[in-house]
Amino acid sequence: MDLPPMNLWAFWSFLFLSSCLFGSSANFSNETDRLSLLNFKHLITEDPLNSLSSWNHTLHFCHWQGVTCGGRRHPQRVTALNLTGQKLVGPISPFIGNLSFLRRIDLSNNSFSGPIPEEMGRLFRLQYLMLRNNTFTGEIPANLTRCSELQLLYLNGNQLIGSIPTELGSLTKLTRLILGLNSLTGNITPSFGNLSSLTYLYLSINSIKGSIPDELGQLVRLSILALSQNEVSGTIPPQLYNLSSILLFDVGFNRLHGNLPPNIGLTLPNLQGLYAGGNQFTGPIPVSLSNASGLFLIDLSNNSFSGSVPLNFGSLKGLSRLRLWGNELRIGQRS
Ligand SMILES: *[C@@H]1O[C@H](CO)[C@@H](O)[C@H](O)[C@H]1NC(C)=O
Ligand SMILES: *[C@@H]1O[C@H](CO)[C@@H](O)[C@H](O)[C@H]1NC(C)=O
Ligand SMILES: *[C@@H]1O[C@H](CO)[C@@H](O)[C@H](O)[C@H]1NC(C)=O
Ligand SMILES: *[C@@H]1O[C@H](CO)[C@@H](O)[C@H](O)[C@H]1NC(C)=O
Ligand SMILES: *[C@@H]1O[C@H](CO)[C@@H](O)[C@H](O)[C@H]1NC(C)=O
Ligand SMILES: *[C@@H]1O[C@H](CO)[C@@H](O)[C@H](O)[C@H]1NC(C)=O
Ligand SMILES: *[C@@H]1O[C@H](CO)[C@@H](O)[C@H](O)[C@H]1NC(C)=O
Ligand SMILES: *[C@@H]1O[C@H](CO)[C@@H](O)[C@H](O)[C@H]1NC(C)=O
Ligand SMILES: *[C@@H]1O[C@H](CO)[C@@H](O)[C@H](O)[C@H]1NC(C)=O
Ligand SMILES: *[C@@H]1O[C@H](CO)[C@@H](O)[C@H](O)[C@H]1NC(C)=O
Ligand SMILES: *[C@@H]1O[C@H](CO)[C@@H](O)[C@H](O)[C@H]1NC(C)=O
Ligand SMILES: *[C@@H]1O[C@H](CO)[C@@H](O)[C@H](O)[C@H]1NC(C)=O
Repeated sequence: MDLPPMNLWAFWSFLFLSSCLFGSSANFSNETDRLSLLNFKHLITEDPLNSLSSWNHTLHFCHWQGVTCGGRRHPQRVTALNLTGQKLVGPISPFIGNLSFLRRIDLSNNSFSGPIPEEMGRLFRLQYLMLRNNTFTGEIPANLTRCSELQLLYLNGNQLIGSIPTELGSLTKLTRLILGLNSLTGNITPSFGNLSSLTYLYLSINSIKGSIPDELGQLVRLSILALSQNEVSGTIPPQLYNLSSILLFDVGFNRLHGNLPPNIGLTLPNLQGLYAGGNQFTGPIPVSLSNASGLFLIDLSNNSFSGSVPLNFGSLKGLSRLRLWGNELRIGQRS
């Protein structure tokens, strides 16, 4: 007696929930994918290599160049779009946000222009977004934060402006955040301390200001920290020197000051590159650097380091570049 009403209730709540959760996208189909790709092609203004000539009505879209369909349960849905180095010119169609099964987008090394469509924020399965080396303008859309599966975000080598959205800090699956070589301004947001999977943080060659937030010290998986050629000021939070996984520590050409900690070579034992040149660092060069046995490059030039150059650098077998000019150093015995 109880079963039919229960089932009915389950049925109606399913309908209700699915319309809430999936909204209009519940009706998205392989036909939506086809139309979205066609609109993407439609907005391309130059295709000198005829890369999109296979995107025609005689060929199924799953066989179009650069398009990958996949999945056992949805074999005719687009899961990847890879058109690297095809000399394509034009904006990205907002219809890309309707390719709801997309996991990977790689449009690197083209001349795509205009804004990064905020509709990409609808791609809730997206894991890789690689748009490097194009001419995208405008701001990084905060809507990308809705792509909660995002692991790799490469937006380097574009003309992006504005601040990095604070909301990006919620992308806890992000392993690489690569935003270098743009015209980004604003501060490094403390919310990046929440990017607990992050291994690469690359913000070099922008116009980022302010101090380095202490919260970056929470990024225990970080191996590459690249902040060079910005306008970052203040001192380096001591917590950063505790991130023992760091291989590359690059803060060159900024407005940083303070000392390097005496035990840096012990707390950063895996360090391979230390770039701190072109800042206002003072104090001695830590003798302990010789304990980071993998070091191959040390650039401390154009600062105000003083004292003597540690003679035991000779024990760093792999050291191939040591740049110390533009300081107040003496070569010789430790004083
Ligand atoms: C799905 O969308 C198509 C095209 O927009 C429309 O013709 C069709 O009626 C829709 N189907 C349902 C079940 O809503
Ligand atoms: C779209 O999917 C339906 C069933 O899911 C299938 O019958 C149809 O052939 C597909 N069309 C294309 C163009 O892949
Ligand atoms: C569609 O693209 C395929 C693959 O490039 C090509 O062989 C075919 O001739 C094209 N068809 C039309 C009508 O352009
Ligand atoms: C896209 O294709 C290029 C060239 O085949 C490859 O190097 C790159 O890794 C691919 N991108 C992704 C995200 O798979
Ligand atoms: C796809 O996206 C575009 C632009 O965001 C929108 O206008 C269109 O209605 C969407 N839906 C379908 C089914 O193509
Ligand atoms: C982009 O071009 C550069 C230089 O030719 C190359 O090293 C890089 O692998 C290319 N990237 C992709 C994703 O194709
Ligand atoms: C950018 O892409 C172009 C091709 O579009 C390539 O020639 C160039 O080497 C790439 N630059 C970098 C830095 O990857
Ligand atoms: C961007 O995200 C907001 C909510 O954060 C949403 O209301 C809006 O529709 C999104 N824009 C697009 C184009 O999906
Ligand atoms: C980090 O995440 C926690 C909870 O997930 C949140 O309360 C906090 O505001 C976030 N911190 C920053 C700096 O965004
Ligand atoms: C660095 O780690 C050591 C040992 O775990 C700890 O004693 C010290 O307080 C940490 N320093 C900072 C600034 O977090
Ligand atoms: C140091 O100064 C020299 C001469 O002004 C300059 O060529 C070099 O690029 C500077 N290097 C750094 C790391 O600041
Ligand atoms: C650091 O290196 C020095 C020699 O340069 C050595 O005497 C010392 O034991 C090393 N310390 C550690 C903790 O490995």
